[in-house]
Amino acid sequence: MSDQVGVKEAGADQQVEQPSPQSNIVELRNLHTYFFTDLGVARALNGVTYDIPREKVLGIVGESGCGKSVTALSIMNLIQPPGRIVKGEVMLHRRDADGATTDVRLTDLNRHSIQMRRIRGNEIAMIFQEPMTSLNPVYTIGDQISEAFMLHQGVDREEARRRSINILDRVGMPYADTVVDQYPHQLSGGMRQRAMIAMGLSCAPSLLIADEPTTALDVTTEAQILDVMRGLQSDIGMSIMFITHDLGVIAQMADEVVVMYLGRVAEQAPVDSIFYDPLHPYTRALLRSIPRVGRGTKERLKPIRGVVPNPYSNITGCPFHPRCDEFMADVCDVNVPGITMTDDGRAVRCFLYSDRVEKNG
Ligand SMILES: Nc1ncnc2c1ncn2[C@@H]1O[C@H](COP(=O)(O)OP(=O)(O)OP(=O)(O)O)[C@@H](O)[C@H]1O
Ligand SMILES: [Mg+2]
Repeated sequence: MSDQVGVKEAGADQQVEQPSPQSNIVELRNLHTYFFTDLGVARALNGVTYDIPREKVLGIVGESGCGKSVTALSIMNLIQPPGRIVKGEVMLHRRDADGATTDVRLTDLNRHSIQMRRIRGNEIAMIFQEPMTSLNPVYTIGDQISEAFMLHQGVDREEARRRSINILDRVGMPYADTVVDQYPHQLSGGMRQRAMIAMGLSCAPSLLIADEPTTALDVTTEAQILDVMRGLQSDIGMSIMFITHDLGVIAQMADEVVVMYLGRVAEQAPVDSIFYDPLHPYTRALLRSIPRVGRGTKERLKPIRGVVPNPYSNITGCPFHPRCDEFMADVCDVNVPGITMTDDGRAVRCFLYSDRVEKNG
């Protein structure tokens, strides 16, 4: 066990007992989402536990297929058959204007219920990985954004149009007053992405889930959009869950970071700790695989050996152990590590820090 970090014997179950509705807007506890397919059961989420802090940006990173988008869809209660949340909970801590909080267990709500539909779009909005999945090709951009204003803020068509142009302008859309009357196919990829972000922001959600919103864009447009999102986040005090492959984007955007691996959280920590003092061997391996300013020019980037196993496989022990440089035989390949909390409030699942075993696995 490492002696470099102070470790508290606390874990997922203790966190469940001590929810902190003031500081977290959403809490995920032991979430399991499976897809029951002809090929077998894909265990996309295998016990995801983490907190989305209020009025901050939480970055979610991890290699392709580790469950970032499925977590987002599970929070929104948008998992479609053959997928299903089989275990665990998503708790929304709603805060009223007078500061009082009420708790809503989103996993108890029917996906199609009025209450869930109100929460989606009103309190929690999502920008999808692929813009054309959310933009309707047969309606103008203005119609689509106006609809949200009319539905959620009860304004008339004329006022909704005015607000639509305003929000398009705020996300840096060129010629917002022309674009408002155009159809999605008439826009460039970057413009569509801005339209999506405008739609996501139109109802000033308490939580915006952004799933790789800038991956398809050139770096200049990406930098502008990140800037706009950061600005709006602090202006309206919303929380953002920002999913990305790109650790550079994480460094720029996030206050806190969750590192996911094969349907579980490897580590959750403030952004500086992730970059300067990563605990989990997977986080360290991810960092070694990207270029960093200030590193010696002769130092080679080191890709992580092996690949992420597919979610149909049933790996015994820590899911990262076959690729881990710090693998301990008869320990890491036997049990799934539980969550260890460090003295400074970081969460890590690794036997280097405690011998705590996951019981709910
Ligand atoms: N409809 C589905 N049917 C079967 N398996 C699915 C389905 N949707 C997702 N999965 C599986 O769940 C796992 C997690 O997928 P997810 O889309 O969350 O990955 P991700 O981390 O968002 O990856 P990326 O970075 O490529 O977007 C993957 O292995 C994927 O194949
Ligand atoms: Mg994804």
